[in-house]
Amino acid sequence: MFGSKFLEQSSTLFLLSVAAQTTDQRCASFTFESNYTRLIASTFFEARDHVNISTLFQAVDTNALPAFCRVQVEITTNVTADSTALAEVWLPEDWNGRFLTIGNGGFSGSVSVGDLAFMAVNQGFAGVSTDSGHSGTATDASWALGNDNAIMDYTWRAMHLSVATGKEIVQKFYGRSHNKAYYVGCSEGGRQGLKEVQEFPDDFDGAVIGSPANWATHLFSSIVRSNLNVLPTTSSRWISENMWRNVIHPEVLRQCDELDGIKDGVISNPLLCSFRPETLACHQNQDPETCLTISQIETLHKLYSDYYETNQTYIFGGFYPGSENDLSTIFGSESSLLGPHYFQNFIVKLSILLHLLVNHYDEHPFFYSDTTWDISQFDMDTILLADSINPGGQNAVNPDLRKFTARQGKVLHYAGWAEDIISAGNSVHYYETVNSFMRANTNIEMDDFYRLFMVAGLGHCYVSDFGDGANAFGAPLQEMAGMPPLAHDARHNILAALVQWVEDDVAPENITAVHYENNNVTAGISFTRPICKYPASSRYVSGDPNSAESFACISY
Ligand SMILES: *[C@@H]1O[C@H](CO)[C@@H](O)[C@H](O)[C@H]1NC(C)=O
Ligand SMILES: *[C@@H]1O[C@H](CO)[C@@H](O)[C@H](O)[C@H]1NC(C)=O
Ligand SMILES: *[C@@H]1O[C@H](CO)[C@@H](O)[C@H](O)[C@H]1NC(C)=O
Ligand SMILES: *[C@@H]1O[C@H](CO)[C@@H](O)[C@H](O)[C@H]1NC(C)=O
Ligand SMILES: *[C@@H]1O[C@H](CO)[C@@H](O)[C@H](O)[C@H]1NC(C)=O
Ligand SMILES: *[C@@H]1O[C@H](CO)[C@@H](O)[C@H](O)[C@H]1NC(C)=O
Repeated sequence: MFGSKFLEQSSTLFLLSVAAQTTDQRCASFTFESNYTRLIASTFFEARDHVNISTLFQAVDTNALPAFCRVQVEITTNVTADSTALAEVWLPEDWNGRFLTIGNGGFSGSVSVGDLAFMAVNQGFAGVSTDSGHSGTATDASWALGNDNAIMDYTWRAMHLSVATGKEIVQKFYGRSHNKAYYVGCSEGGRQGLKEVQEFPDDFDGAVIGSPANWATHLFSSIVRSNLNVLPTTSSRWISENMWRNVIHPEVLRQCDELDGIKDGVISNPLLCSFRPETLACHQNQDPETCLTISQIETLHKLYSDYYETNQTYIFGGFYPGSENDLSTIFGSESSLLGPHYFQNFIVKLSILLHLLVNHYDEHPFFYSDTTWDISQFDMDTILLADSINPGGQNAVNPDLRKFTARQGKVLHYAGWAEDIISAGNSVHYYETVNSFMRANTNIEMDDFYRLFMVAGLGHCYVSDFGDGANAFGAPLQEMAGMPPLAHDARHNILAALVQWVEDDVAPENITAVHYENNNVTAGISFTRPICKYPASSRYVSGDPNSAESFACISY
């Protein structure tokens, strides 16, 4: 059926000539050939069709989408090596004229179809996402072994080429090019977005960056350090999942929860609290599952402080009080994501650091087999070595965003204070390095182009759980997980807030997030809260404690 809205929005004669075709026909007969791109398929979905597509990273199984054309292509990323990446471009019939690129997670390896459905097509954007040049799950890095081209595709090349190709496909399909180009991504997706903003500033007009894995070599070092602080599970340092959840978390809430003016189980600003685990120290004959040993208290102090190496060299941020439930799933179980079993399937070639670590777990000899290096030798030199190799240029830490600001580019960065994988402090740290650089070299204020929103009670990009705070605000992975923002407007939806900033020059001061009852949207709204612009955090003032209206954003 021909889209009448589509016609209304279109004014060019060229479009009227292709408009003789329905979107359905245009999708079915779509061709796109270049020396470096091969069309795999183009498939039309009517509005409310059953769309059931899954990749190794995300799945979509819904009949709630508007009409769109799904275009799948293969892009040659290096002719000599014959390396390729897959990309998908989802083109809604009722197009809002904007282009949206969606990032990956973990070690990538498949297209983000869930976010293509719920962030792009469902909100009128033409969307693109890539598998980043290899096929695998988000926790699988085995493809990287001895494959420098695949590493380069993963670190930046597949993304950059997919953006360029996606824009061409949009132009060809609609008969006109996009008005503005946006980016969204969390974790590895945040890293990919920052890499683009730093190295290819013309690709986007605005980017939503969530909890980025951008300082990769230091992130992985911090993961090693954290594990060394708690492992092995038989040591006196070890803290069980039960202890994290049922002993430490309640004590953290007792000490820190009410500092924002309200006792609600959510710590709005952990920097206001200096948590003292000593209050839980074991007394004589106390049940060890209800109290902390001296070693466990030390473990907590280490995990909850920034990580410095020799000569007070800052390596990475620490975790913050309030993240215990999330940390319990990471550090409370040996089979967890970041536990020892994760390492053997880790980064491999992406960082010499973990290349070496892999060898330590020789009970799982997947990769390299001979070295005398042992995890106990992990030190500053290992980190310096990882930094000097920086495989594939994976770090995205350049604070010089002058080219991006020169084209009026905007960044909306968010991270959860209850981060359990990539320290929330890493987001603050990158924000501050950009701030220092821009202050020293330009007259541009951070507020004019880069705003950071720290989210109370949110862990890592919905990976461990949804968290106890107001956790739905239109960021990647949220709506596809059944947690939509309260509305798709600039007040409630971080992507719409970015669009309004770029196109209308109205910058967000805060975003209203929602917590659904039991994290179940059908069960209704439990409470709303403002997410405040860093360095401010929310404080209860008066009125209904479940309403964002009752809170103010305060800088302490
Ligand atoms: C595409 O390939 C043809 C034949 O090899 C070559 O002549 C042409 O220059 C190429 N085009 C581009 C844009 O590289
Ligand atoms: C969606 O596809 C998967 C297999 O890919 C299948 O298991 C599932 O039943 C499908 N869902 C529906 C509603 O048909
Ligand atoms: C392309 O691949 C070849 C073969 O692996 C390699 O020698 C070359 O450096 C690669 N080129 C780029 C730009 O990565
Ligand atoms: C760091 O401290 C060590 C001694 O612990 C010293 O040998 C080294 O030169 C110092 N490095 C720097 C960069 O100051
Ligand atoms: C979500 O809430 C609805 C309405 O209260 C309920 O019927 C449904 O079972 C809940 N779903 C889950 C997964 O708990
Ligand atoms: C959020 O921003 C809006 C618009 O600037 C402002 O009116 C409102 O007071 C802010 N809310 C809080 C809690 O600061």
